[in-house]
Amino acid sequence: MDSIGPRGLQQREGALGCPQEGLPCPSNSSELVQECLQQFEVTEAQLRQIQSSLLGSMEQALGGQASPAPAVRMLPTYVGSIPHGTEQGDFVVLELGASGASLRVLWVTLMGTEGCKIEPRSQEFVIPQEVMLGPGQQLFDFAARCLSEFLDTLPVGKQGLQLGFNFSFPCHQTGLDKSTLISWTKGFKCSGVEGQDVVQLLRDAIQRQGTYSIDVVAVVNDTVGTMMGCEPGVGPCEVGLVVDTGTNACYMEEARHVAVLDEDRGRVCISVEWGSFSDDGALGPVWTIFDRTLDQESLNPGAQRFEKMIGGLYLGELVRLVLADLVRRGVLFDGSTSPVLLSPGSILLEHVAEMDDPSAGAARLHAVLQFLGLNLRTSDAELVQQVCVAVCTRAARLCAAALAAILSRLQHIREQRSLQIAVATGGRVFERHPRFLSILQETVKCLAPECGVSFIPSVDGGGQGVAMVTAVAARLAAHRRLLEETLAPFRLTHEQLVAVQRQMREAMAKGLKGKPSSLRMLPTYVRATPDGSERGDFLALDLGGTNFRVLLVHVASGDVQITNQIYSIPEYMAQGSGQQLFDHIVDCIVDFQQKQGLSGQSLPLGFTFSFPCRQLGLDKGILMNWTKGFSASDCEGQDVVFLLREAIRRKKAVELNVVALVNDTVGTMMSCGYENPHCEVGLIVGTGTNACYMEELRNVTSVPGDSGRMCINMEWGAFGDDGSLGMLSTHFDARVDQASINPGRQRFEKMISGMYLGEIVRHILLHLTSLGVLFRGQHIQCLQTRDIFKTKFLSEIESDSLALRQVRAILEDLGLPLTSDDALMVLEVCQAVSRRAAQLCGAGVAAVVERIRENRDLEKLTVSVGVDGTLYKLHPHFSSLVAETVRELAPRCVVTFLQSKDGSGKGAALVTAVACRLAQMTRV
Ligand code: G6P
Ligand code: BGC
Ligand code: BGC
Repeated sequence: MDSIGPRGLQQREGALGCPQEGLPCPSNSSELVQECLQQFEVTEAQLRQIQSSLLGSMEQALGGQASPAPAVRMLPTYVGSIPHGTEQGDFVVLELGASGASLRVLWVTLMGTEGCKIEPRSQEFVIPQEVMLGPGQQLFDFAARCLSEFLDTLPVGKQGLQLGFNFSFPCHQTGLDKSTLISWTKGFKCSGVEGQDVVQLLRDAIQRQGTYSIDVVAVVNDTVGTMMGCEPGVGPCEVGLVVDTGTNACYMEEARHVAVLDEDRGRVCISVEWGSFSDDGALGPVWTIFDRTLDQESLNPGAQRFEKMIGGLYLGELVRLVLADLVRRGVLFDGSTSPVLLSPGSILLEHVAEMDDPSAGAARLHAVLQFLGLNLRTSDAELVQQVCVAVCTRAARLCAAALAAILSRLQHIREQRSLQIAVATGGRVFERHPRFLSILQETVKCLAPECGVSFIPSVDGGGQGVAMVTAVAARLAAHRRLLEETLAPFRLTHEQLVAVQRQMREAMAKGLKGKPSSLRMLPTYVRATPDGSERGDFLALDLGGTNFRVLLVHVASGDVQITNQIYSIPEYMAQGSGQQLFDHIVDCIVDFQQKQGLSGQSLPLGFTFSFPCRQLGLDKGILMNWTKGFSASDCEGQDVVFLLREAIRRKKAVELNVVALVNDTVGTMMSCGYENPHCEVGLIVGTGTNACYMEELRNVTSVPGDSGRMCINMEWGAFGDDGSLGMLSTHFDARVDQASINPGRQRFEKMISGMYLGEIVRHILLHLTSLGVLFRGQHIQCLQTRDIFKTKFLSEIESDSLALRQVRAILEDLGLPLTSDDALMVLEVCQAVSRRAAQLCGAGVAAVVERIRENRDLEKLTVSVGVDGTLYKLHPHFSSLVAETVRELAPRCVVTFLQSKDGSGKGAALVTAVACRLAQMTRV
């Protein structure tokens, strides 16, 4: 920041300081004192410059400017709203750092809006100097001891107390209960605390103390406690101002202006930390030689320079330095000094306040000076008072300039010509020094005339406000616990995943042998992957995923070209009559042929039909049951190739040659296998989920033959339909299952695939809302609507590149009225649900590849998995989580995942091409 240039804060001639030793003294002591005290005068122009310079620093710090470092810190406090007064309960408040060497513990009872006010009980403890300057652990242990001592005097239980920690030092907060000390101020210098989370240090100390079970719920700066404790009813109190040992202010800023926060709405309380203003020398000549001496002799030279001109810890010391200097020059006390004047820290704020107060009368002033051991002449008394007045007046005026900067900022961001605002004030300087407030008020009026400011003194040093923040934090922490409890069943352990893998292996083995098993392990009659010699044009149908497609596939040497068109299958057809569905399919084929100029040609056709079929040959498959929202009548138990041929027959005009019926997993494996011969597994994670793989024919009981392999369609979506997944299934899974059109079926699929994840999330959100954890417990109509929460939202919301505000925008489009806390929780719900899905899928793949490895008696298996499906492809983390789980559960298999580029229609055409090649060979 630019220093306030020579133009604005020019030194007054002769005001450099008192005359140097050896120079002749002005004839009159009073003149000399006046000359010396001129340095403490700050003109209105200088104050205005300070106001605008501070405002500039505030803006820089809010904007996240790092270099040059802004002169104030502007620290977000995670307090998002001013209190509504509805907070209730008993809270312990521990105050450290607000009032010098004292530590205060309070017991605060909040009664909500209706209840009567109960005065807090409190006790103050003096912190020994060696504790303030010793190891950090000693300070926190001292605090924990004071806490216990105080609580011992109250009729409270030892369990479940909630504590708000009023810690009044500059801290980087990252949450309501996480706060890293940046640097000590105000006479504290304990080792090993800077850079540490002070909440954790206090928690550790309380635990070491071991007498009470106290949860440190919130950490709060004293300015924030002051603002939050402002009695409701006096209009919005959006500024907290503290002038105690140190000084600082906080105010409610628009969150969108705070670069470090990922927030575009609402307000957040910012602790300005203005004590550090001018550490870069910005105050120029307003900073006197006395300030310089004080700074150099302090515990933190070069830091908190603005605070050192205003804070109560320093006012007495400034007075002492001036008096000592005047004595040294023979102007005061007959030139004879005293031990008091020679000892730093001997004049306290209390002394200054009394000496500065004209109403206290000369006798009081004499008494104070005598107490300080100063040998007083009557003429001295007046001069001493002038010194005190000068030092305190400057402090109040500088403080006013800083406050005026905040008021200008508020006026600017609220776009109000005249701002009516309440400022909560706290700290001993206000309490003990009434003139301070009146000078402050007067100066603020002059510097910010358009603002109507009412100053509201804090009643109990901000304890009430800290309790209010603690109440809010406690509520949020309780919500977090409920969220964790709700999501706990979704967080699978390694052992649970190993068990899923083992059960899957057992079910595979049984299914292959034709024993009762939830895995049907259906032979597909696909025995070979393409060898590259296939040629020709093929038609393909692709039914059962997000899209129904008709494709023309041109297979040439090493090259496959595809033309395809997407057609819709309306829900009434998917769930209407089978005849209507198959007629519609044929209509689409006819339309496609016409558009492609293929009418009248009878090309071989491969039919990707992504539902469980018991195949009796390559072109014959009995639909066992519909899945994924299909329920067309009169199809289950029928050969779907026959149903298609019947529809073709009904259409009369067309001739089609249906050669192969292919599951989408098989189509995907074949399609990827065309590029990569290691591809021996097909995996789909889309609307539904399933896998196929190359099994040794000798293990497939229902197909004759002992040599070679056959692709087995596992139909793993049904895994667990025999109840074996019961332990993993949550209430939410049960609800989704019950509301589906196939209750009790496809239980594994319903925990993994795209058709269901959004619904699981919706049910969790409903539950959390009913607990009051989300959406303030309000009934949200749109959440009642089935399928409103699409699985694609999970993919969008979990994208790393999205800021929380974008997450909220997505959810708001759905009509969900979220706060940022809500948005974060919704994100966590989505993460838990999709993570479980990916891990279960990974456990399944691990079972498959381990089986292949053992089948082939290999120490290590290298295998590729061809994958397709919108969830797998679109979700930002799903694929890596699947791979991670497979690595964990099948360490002896090196598994590569290949994403299918062209869908399984291409695979169906390739299966058809292979079949045609083989048929041709047998004919030859
Ligand atoms: C492939 C196939 C579809 C299949 C789908 C699964 O692309 O061509 O027939 O069902 O993947 O994905 P989806 O997300 O569409 O269900
Ligand atoms: C601290 C602030 C505090 C102020 C008033 C300063 O030294 O840095 O955090 O608010 O004193 O107590
Ligand atoms: C079907 C499978 C299909 C999978 C993926 C499941 O619902 O039963 O045949 O492979 O979805 O589309």
